[in-house]
Amino acid sequence: MPNDGKRKPLHVALEGLGLEVQVVPGISLLDAVRSAGLALDSECGGRGTCGECRVRFLQGTPRPTVEDAALLSQDELDGGWRLACQTFLTADCRIAIPQRVAHARRRKIRILTDAAGLPTTGRPTLSGYGIAVDVGTTTVVCYLMDLARALQLGVASFANPQSAFGPDVISRITYAHRGPAELRELQRRLVSHLDRNFASLCKGAGIAPESVSRVTAVGNMTMMHLLRGVDPWPLGVAPYEPVFLELPPFPAREIGFKRFGGCEMHILPGVGGHVGSDVVAGVMGLDLTRRPGISLYMDLGTNGEVVLCSKKAMAGASCAAGPAFEGVHIHSGMSAFPGAIERVDEEDGRLQLDTIGDADALGLCGSGLVDAVALLLRRGLLLPSGRLVAPQRVPADVPQDLRERVQDDGDGRRFLLSRDGSREDVVVTQRDIREVQLAKAPVRATIDLLLAGAHLKPEAIDDVFVAGGFGSAVRSESLLALGVVPEEVRGRVHSVGNTAGFGAKLALVYPERLEATHRLARQIRHVELVLREDFRQAFAAHIPFPRDGQR
Ligand code: FES
Repeated sequence: MPNDGKRKPLHVALEGLGLEVQVVPGISLLDAVRSAGLALDSECGGRGTCGECRVRFLQGTPRPTVEDAALLSQDELDGGWRLACQTFLTADCRIAIPQRVAHARRRKIRILTDAAGLPTTGRPTLSGYGIAVDVGTTTVVCYLMDLARALQLGVASFANPQSAFGPDVISRITYAHRGPAELRELQRRLVSHLDRNFASLCKGAGIAPESVSRVTAVGNMTMMHLLRGVDPWPLGVAPYEPVFLELPPFPAREIGFKRFGGCEMHILPGVGGHVGSDVVAGVMGLDLTRRPGISLYMDLGTNGEVVLCSKKAMAGASCAAGPAFEGVHIHSGMSAFPGAIERVDEEDGRLQLDTIGDADALGLCGSGLVDAVALLLRRGLLLPSGRLVAPQRVPADVPQDLRERVQDDGDGRRFLLSRDGSREDVVVTQRDIREVQLAKAPVRATIDLLLAGAHLKPEAIDDVFVAGGFGSAVRSESLLALGVVPEEVRGRVHSVGNTAGFGAKLALVYPERLEATHRLARQIRHVELVLREDFRQAFAAHIPFPRDGQR
């Protein structure tokens, strides 16, 4: 459906979440729901054949489509049920969000598209359409925006297709460095997926691909090098310097876009080392330079990036946090997909597990792992040294349900989280705990050294903003218990979701915000820590867990 750019947006109220999204007429309800950051199941990819995307209209119920009639019973149709993928909106409506989806949204899980937070600052001066892209090592998210109205028209996300060449930046750097063909292959895979997703976003919003004129892209340094087709090898060897920090805009066809080749492409600038444009976009999006006091911005994933911000000065550093926070290299680890245990609690002496999508527990993602370790510490089942206690040494006050989960089989000590005869047990092993220690110690060492460099004590920090998928799902209590952040910031730790995507959208819609990212990238002083002796010492000092974690 063509869009003249002047039609009034529609309002879709999502009952049960207290959310309302603004969308353009003609968008599918599936895309409208996704634009609120909700993940409706859609096994058939929106072709109207699986029936998984069914939702119930409470107001503004449209006439059933042929696909509705084929997959839904008469009772369901009469009750207002429709297939979200086959319903193209023409009027305001109110729909009931399925319990499991609403529950998931409340806990900010799955891929963080952060779509509900539309940029509302400033006055847009551009017209036409644009797409903001957040290229993560694991996940890529694209946001289609109406530039004149600063209105988000759709969100698409997909697993980074480069994952076939390794889960982390180091494996991608290594592959890309094999030769020009391999480098091109990584670039081509990403760009062809982007091209395809851009097209389906346009289709969903009823706009022609040619009307998209502008793209902003953010990501870590390695992802930005691969997107531009530049060998990122210097990022993989000391002193870990990127080939470029900022680039002038260029036509998207230069990097292999076809249908969107005419777009003006802006790769947002990075700071240095592995501190990339995702961090710059996040700091800009949160307006940390204008905040009074001292803030700490952290993006925790395979790489940990930390920026210390005050009105006077800003410094940023990155560290290899290891893959534990992403659930990788963990015995029962998995990415944050349905079935991953994302939260571990104790209630009335019994273990409580929350999984993504309320599905059966298949494994453990980063936030669940960190929660589990925090619980083990709290109950004295894990010593500050990082050693799991033997079953016969479990403290006397540990409830039976937890006590029975401490096991020592021939393969070593482990803590059983979930057992279901049909699949492998979900456990935390002694080795997993070591991985967590190796992930958290460098992050904490980075924080300590940035503070020391600014002659500040931890108590001087006013706010800690934790960004990214893991950062948004993890509880601040657990970060404190493990010593990822200093005890002095208790009560001042905030999860902020996908700030990189938010910053990319701001930079897309508001040229002055794009300018601001360039200024900011130059203002943040990059501190290379990894080769420093004091970093090694701080790292070693933070391998043990804090004793307070045992309270
Ligand atoms: S997504 Fe399969 S029927 Fe709608």
